[in-house]
Amino acid sequence: MDIVIVPTAADVATYAADVVADRIAEEPGTVLGVATGSSPVGIYRELARRRAEGSLDLAHLTCFALDEYVGLAPEHPRSYAAYLDREIVRPFGLAPGRVRVPDASRADLEEAAEEYEQSIAAAGGIDLQILGIGTNGHIGFNEPVSSLSSRTRVTALSAQTRTDNARFFDRPQDVPTHCLTQGLGTILEARRVLLVAQGERKAAAVAAAVEGPVAARCPASVLQFHPRATLVLDEDAASGLTLENGHRPVPGRGDGAGQGGSGPAS
Ligand code: GLP
Repeated sequence: MDIVIVPTAADVATYAADVVADRIAEEPGTVLGVATGSSPVGIYRELARRRAEGSLDLAHLTCFALDEYVGLAPEHPRSYAAYLDREIVRPFGLAPGRVRVPDASRADLEEAAEEYEQSIAAAGGIDLQILGIGTNGHIGFNEPVSSLSSRTRVTALSAQTRTDNARFFDRPQDVPTHCLTQGLGTILEARRVLLVAQGERKAAAVAAAVEGPVAARCPASVLQFHPRATLVLDEDAASGLTLENGHRPVPGRGDGAGQGGSGPAS
């Protein structure tokens, strides 16, 4: 895994936006996997800012969400469809059909999951997957102890995740209990993975993902199997790491991300 540690959350957004923008400059029709939650918001706003100033054309992207809550209609303000409409469809200037979200309002959720896998495949697979990480090590909504080769499916949210996400809802009991999420096997098929984490509350999950064993109890640890996974962390999110060698950006060693690149962690 390639670990990049930068001083602040704002630096995480800038660095990660550079990686995404470089990819889009190479291939305007990039298929982008888009996480929701608070972690990637700074990336999306930085990309939208560059588009607004005229330095970045995002109109040819195709985007796939990682997950969606079961029981929230797409129009519900806390649905991930609504989040992506606010943070991506409109600010990126995309035609709505260019951002796909698992259809968690369908009666047959297994069929919806299967169709979602097929739509990713039909788009040629995901070129660059943006990820956050849950405090329990989840990615997408693959909670501990998801199968490391899981595919898009219906699954239950853990008590920890429902507590963490209660801040987005009026009342804790309004947090849905289930979701449709891409599986860990699905995520591993993305050609490049870019995980961002900010803040001390993510430090333990980041340390388990990077330095712990590959284990279903920390789903993000499966990224150790990915040939091209980059983690961009602020100092606080990196504070649980103990194997320092290679975790710091190496000055002057460009990787195309605009801030000097990083040394390989392994
Ligand atoms: C959410 C999402 C994940 C996200 C994670 C962290 O519930 N399903 O895709 O990465 O949990 O959320 P946040 O970025 O708000 O801390």
